[in-house]
Amino acid sequence: MTVPLVERYRDRLPLTDSTPIVSLGEGSTPLLPAPRLSARLGVELWLKWEGANPTGSFKDRGMTVAVSKAVEEGATAVVCASTGNTAASAATYAARAGLRALILQPAGAVARGKIAQAQAVGARVLAVQGPFEGALDAARELGRRDTHALVNSLNPFRLEGQKTAVFEIVEDLGGTPDCLALPYGGGGNTRAYALGFDELGEGLPPLLAGEASERAFTMATAIRIARPAHRAEAEEAVARSGGSVVPLTDEEILAAWRDLAEQEGVFCEPSSAAGLAALARSRPERGARVVCVVTGHGLKDPDAAARLSTPPIPVPPDPDAIAEAAS
Ligand code: F0G
Repeated sequence: MTVPLVERYRDRLPLTDSTPIVSLGEGSTPLLPAPRLSARLGVELWLKWEGANPTGSFKDRGMTVAVSKAVEEGATAVVCASTGNTAASAATYAARAGLRALILQPAGAVARGKIAQAQAVGARVLAVQGPFEGALDAARELGRRDTHALVNSLNPFRLEGQKTAVFEIVEDLGGTPDCLALPYGGGGNTRAYALGFDELGEGLPPLLAGEASERAFTMATAIRIARPAHRAEAEEAVARSGGSVVPLTDEEILAAWRDLAEQEGVFCEPSSAAGLAALARSRPERGARVVCVVTGHGLKDPDAAARLSTPPIPVPPDPDAIAEAAS
């Protein structure tokens, strides 16, 4: 059985004996070698496959801690604003804990799989007009009114949970990587990785944070965030690490998305490929041991996958016609 991260790293998390643990078995995700992309990029590339978490994204690492603490503090409802993955995770962990969940999504900008997840577990899902930032401001205000516990990454327990990915990576590799690449949306995860490395006390490897150059319009909806809530701290950590923030075109993100799927069999959602896209641009030293964090599952965004791939060819159930169509 997978040991949930709250048990595996209990001594490094803000949990007490009286914290009721709300878990679906998150963390302990695979660190996969990527032999073909390693050969192409001239590095030793590893993929931290966060799509293997219970709701299909890294958000579960933080949500198990945030919702456990919310229950401990007597909350009866949670709220978040989200481009989709935080919503799916918050709604799911709320259901697990018997809490109500209020989900605020930027109208028309959330991938179908993520909406389905939040709906299926019984959350109240509202489509808020305008961009993500308005929904986030509203969620913060509801959090301040004390009717709901805010479980966006502004909730410090979220980052505490998310930092555990670093512990797993360092344990699996037997040391700190030479470089770590990840997508940069609101910047919470970049901060969480810096926190994890800082706590291990072995120095921060250069962080490559891949962001959409057209933040407000990118097709990578998970990171369609014009004003990152954690910009100052995330960019301070990147600068301190000796790495860089890498602005990416949608074409670069999609090329990386396709490479992960076709070259390594890792089907992620488009935003999740921004780390690899940043790496492809930055070209670390030859032979460097690089970890690329792949943040969410491809099934989250079935419309993107359908749009970007060759549609199935209709054929009659006739072996000759099938052989011809297959060639
Ligand atoms: N990758 C995926 C799949 C995401 O869903 C997100 C953020 C990120 C990367 C960026 O992480 O914001 O910590 O820099 N999704 C948030 C959400 C905004 O609402 O689900 P970040």
